[in-house]
Amino acid sequence: MSNLIVLDHPLIQHKLTMIRDHRTGTKAFRELVDEVAMLMAFEITRDLALEEVDVETPVATAKAKRLSGKKLGIVPILRAGLGMVNGVLKLIPAAKVGHIGLYRDPQTLQPVEYYVKMPPDIKERDFIIVDPMLATGGSAAAAITSLKQRGAVNIKLMCLIGAPEGVKAVQEAHPDVDIYLAALDEKLNEHGYIIPGLGDAGDRLFGTK
Ligand code: PRP
Ligand code: URA
Repeated sequence: MSNLIVLDHPLIQHKLTMIRDHRTGTKAFRELVDEVAMLMAFEITRDLALEEVDVETPVATAKAKRLSGKKLGIVPILRAGLGMVNGVLKLIPAAKVGHIGLYRDPQTLQPVEYYVKMPPDIKERDFIIVDPMLATGGSAAAAITSLKQRGAVNIKLMCLIGAPEGVKAVQEAHPDVDIYLAALDEKLNEHGYIIPGLGDAGDRLFGTK
């Protein structure tokens, strides 16, 4: 079974509270999502492999560390996932960015894929899929399936808020994929919205409501 890791760093929790607040407008919402994504990326990358190298400082040779593992790819689930990309890129600027376009059919809540563009060296990269909301889990599970079908092996899922239903669905479909959340909420409502959640992440990010 995959791991569920809720990142309870005080800065993440404080900023998430502001993100949830219905009075937070588009500009602040976007900035806060960007900041939380960066803080979450810091926590998620704790296990990146290092190697020892010699580096010449102005006064001597130091035995120092640098990243040695596989290259990284970030995959936002369009559209709301876009709001988390730049925050991650601030810490991992050399990462490539693939895109998966999925929307939830409002009647069936099933994900519909409308766009996929991945880096060509997909097999050589470790991936972080980003999306603010893990509700039924349908979108995240479909995005992971899509990446695996194209050759990706090592995938992590990073969302701001998850519902228990979504966590369960992803864990059952993809037991090899660890899930990182800033908060695990209570439940879904009858429209598939996370309770208490933050509302519609895409609409709040892009001001489309
Ligand atoms: C939202 C959200 C996730 C999905 C989660 O996207 O950003 O992608 O719903 O729901 P699920 O876990 O039940 O699949 P939405 O479909 O509203 O599209 P948008 O990003 O274009 O707003
Ligand atoms: N998508 C959202 O944007 N919000 C939810 O609560 C659930 C799915």
